[in-house]
Amino acid sequence: MITITINNKEIKLEKPVTVLEAARSAGIKIPTLCWHEQLEIYGGCRLCLVEVEKMPRLQTACTLMVADGMVVRTETEQIADVRRGILEFLLINHPLDCPVCDKAGECELQDLVEKYGPAKGRYKEKKRKVPESFEDPLIVRNMERCIICTRCVRMCENVQGASAIAVINRGGHSHVEPFSGKRYDCEYCGNCISVCPVGAIMSRLHRHSYRPWQLTGKTETICPYCGVGCTLVLQVRDDSIKRVIPKMGAPVNNGLLCSRGKFGYEFVADKERLTTPLIRKNGILKKATWEEAITLVADTLKEIKDKSGSPAVAGIASPRCTNEDNYVFQKFMRVALGTNNIDSSARTGYAGAQRFIENIFGEGATANIISGLSNADSVLVIGGDPMAINPVLGLQIRACSRKGGSIITAGNVKGLKYFSPLKLQAELHSETILLEGLVSALKDKKGLSGSNKKLEAEIKDINISSEDVAKKCGVKKESFIKSVELLSGAAAPAIVLGKETVQSSGGSYKLLLAAAINYLINGRIYLLSERANEQGLLDMGCMPDSLPGHRPVALAEFRRRYESEWNAVINDKAGLSIFEMIDAAAKGSIKAMYVMGDNPAYNLPDSNAVEAALNNLDFLVVQDIFLTETGRLADVVLPALSWAEKDGTFTNMERRIQRLRKAVNREGMEDWKIVSEISKNMGVSLNYRDTEDIFKEISKVSPLYRGLTYEDIDKGSAVYPYKGEPLRSLTGDIQAHKGAGIVHGKLHVRLERPLFHSGTLSRRSPALIKISPEAVVKISPDTARALSIENGNIVMVSTKTGSLKLPVTIDKEVDSSYIMLTNNFEGKGAFSLMGYSIDPATGAPCIDNNEAIVERVKV
Ligand code: SF4
Ligand code: SF4
Ligand code: SF4
Ligand code: FES
Repeated sequence: MITITINNKEIKLEKPVTVLEAARSAGIKIPTLCWHEQLEIYGGCRLCLVEVEKMPRLQTACTLMVADGMVVRTETEQIADVRRGILEFLLINHPLDCPVCDKAGECELQDLVEKYGPAKGRYKEKKRKVPESFEDPLIVRNMERCIICTRCVRMCENVQGASAIAVINRGGHSHVEPFSGKRYDCEYCGNCISVCPVGAIMSRLHRHSYRPWQLTGKTETICPYCGVGCTLVLQVRDDSIKRVIPKMGAPVNNGLLCSRGKFGYEFVADKERLTTPLIRKNGILKKATWEEAITLVADTLKEIKDKSGSPAVAGIASPRCTNEDNYVFQKFMRVALGTNNIDSSARTGYAGAQRFIENIFGEGATANIISGLSNADSVLVIGGDPMAINPVLGLQIRACSRKGGSIITAGNVKGLKYFSPLKLQAELHSETILLEGLVSALKDKKGLSGSNKKLEAEIKDINISSEDVAKKCGVKKESFIKSVELLSGAAAPAIVLGKETVQSSGGSYKLLLAAAINYLINGRIYLLSERANEQGLLDMGCMPDSLPGHRPVALAEFRRRYESEWNAVINDKAGLSIFEMIDAAAKGSIKAMYVMGDNPAYNLPDSNAVEAALNNLDFLVVQDIFLTETGRLADVVLPALSWAEKDGTFTNMERRIQRLRKAVNREGMEDWKIVSEISKNMGVSLNYRDTEDIFKEISKVSPLYRGLTYEDIDKGSAVYPYKGEPLRSLTGDIQAHKGAGIVHGKLHVRLERPLFHSGTLSRRSPALIKISPEAVVKISPDTARALSIENGNIVMVSTKTGSLKLPVTIDKEVDSSYIMLTNNFEGKGAFSLMGYSIDPATGAPCIDNNEAIVERVKV
């Protein structure tokens, strides 16, 4: 125990920390400028100078470590004089433009000058002049205001790992500039903005639209984009979101955000938001009243159910809606419509992959704390780029690398390029051999422990030498051997698994191999999740075969429990998956579909065929915030509220339940409320006061969420396995499928999962559109040469399922065996070019077998 005295207060410390940290732990504030809790210590501004007995000079509290018996004073006349001097020096060049600076009111320099002075400047010479830079679409730089604390540079380099900015020039001419010149051309996380103490770098999105003291609300909520579940604070003035900032100390993101969380909020105020229900009359969607729309939906669904039976009706739930919305939705489908035909876009990967892994290791196998990744000693990344899919999780892998952990990437993982000393870049379609090779080598090294006989039976005959691996999939033998050594010797290894593997031919077999690697090295599995509430949606029972809490609908014991709670009879047959629903709609056996908060006509592969199937329905209801591609096909469109306009909960990929809180108002109804109204009109009462009321029912009926309250969530204690009953005992045989062979030597289409976009939501955020404005097809330099194509040329990309005209970007990260396209831009979705087959074990679509022809279009 170390005892020190600061300002006559005795402080006891368990371990040595800096004087600054010791003071803060005791509630004593020492002023700082270059120090920031997220950053490495710099010791440059000297604002934190303190007096230490028996030390000859003033000391910087942020760099000085405590010693037993130390006596420190933080506020003396001498210290105040020195601080005043430092501030006066900073003000030599800093303009006194607080009246027009957006930072005024929350500026650390302004606050310090207000406290210590100088009240009057003595400097008469001309100040440094640097024109304000508006070259970047999102970040405005005013380098006259920069005090060279280097917080932004340290954030960008040491935390974000992007190394996109630096201090250039010397002395009074120093300022911060992006390496790329005037525009940032970086990852646009905005984390440099979050740590700048003054108004030198700021977001352009809210420029001059409010002063901090004019805010009428600061609402803590969860990001609407991906499954990481970062905490955001929405700052509101006049019922409009002015700015999004991260929350320091938040359990998942601790003050960090990515581009989508930071800049992707403007869709909330988009003028094209749906405001009134629409009903199709004579082929055209026309405005209608809520009463008309709800009555029509209730009557028509009832009529179709009565005439064609419950199996003729299907519902698609949403990984962007809250747990409460999804719970009410599946209850409505099961109770009011009598069907288990409930599924979601989670079926495209996450749902099946999680079930597959849990079948091997038991429920909760993927419920691993995201921040724990930074403490792993080896991380194997397979099937996607975490820095694009789940960027704040990706930062934990970068942090792991910085701490000396080994990062091994299988495939092209661009975001970890500079953090991945070991790349196992297998040639296209040879990932299986690579994974088999790892299993084989790890088996030899570690042996089989016998603790999971089922899994061991599946892998016992896998034997492939490192020479064969190197030969057959083109990876370097030395890298392969080194990877095996690192993985087998790791004390705390982790595997990060992306959807690309799940959605490839033989996806379930690759999952089996990944699970086997995990078993052999005794690691933790992280399953990347592209949507904010993919996990929660599954927990709520939005699956054709499971009730809330993952209880199989086919088991009478579980069904009965829900029947008695819901006072209804539940269909005992599992329903159709989303892909089976589409097939059934095409064939005419599904006649009505209710889509809540998703866009299957765009977000599912072979989207042209999906559109045709939806057109074949007798009745399509779409509930959303925009008139999406699917909405345009609907008979009734119901306008819902966005994530910023409602309360509820999301469950993130580590299975932490977190609260969404309403920040702004808008006319309209929450998804759960619309569904309840329709149900009421059908004579089935789903009566809830608010989301807390719904959550109370969830925690009463779902064994998984049993006993949980909003209070538990607020306290941060709603982390898996909660206090309920996970379902550990129902594992079955492992069924993995190796998939069909893929023709080598042909150009295939591959889905790009970009950092700046997410589904069809981000395209409504002007800031994200500014940094990633349009769909392009990315091709390798070799392909470009072979086809005589140059950057910017327009090409026609054709596959068996469709064709698209797009501009080309030549990208050296792209292999010559494929071309890459995103699925985010109106009318230009990669899924229109992708046919699929279903992996029988995971139910996920395999989309990697689509040959493409690329032809230059003469303009
Ligand atoms: S926005 Fe992010 S990546 Fe870009 S300069 Fe700032 S910290 Fe670096
Ligand atoms: S831009 Fe801001 S954070 Fe960066 S060095 Fe200047 S004052 Fe510090
Ligand atoms: S990492 Fe995911 S949850 Fe976090 S800010 Fe980015 S998109 Fe939002
Ligand atoms: S805060 Fe200690 S030197 Fe800057």
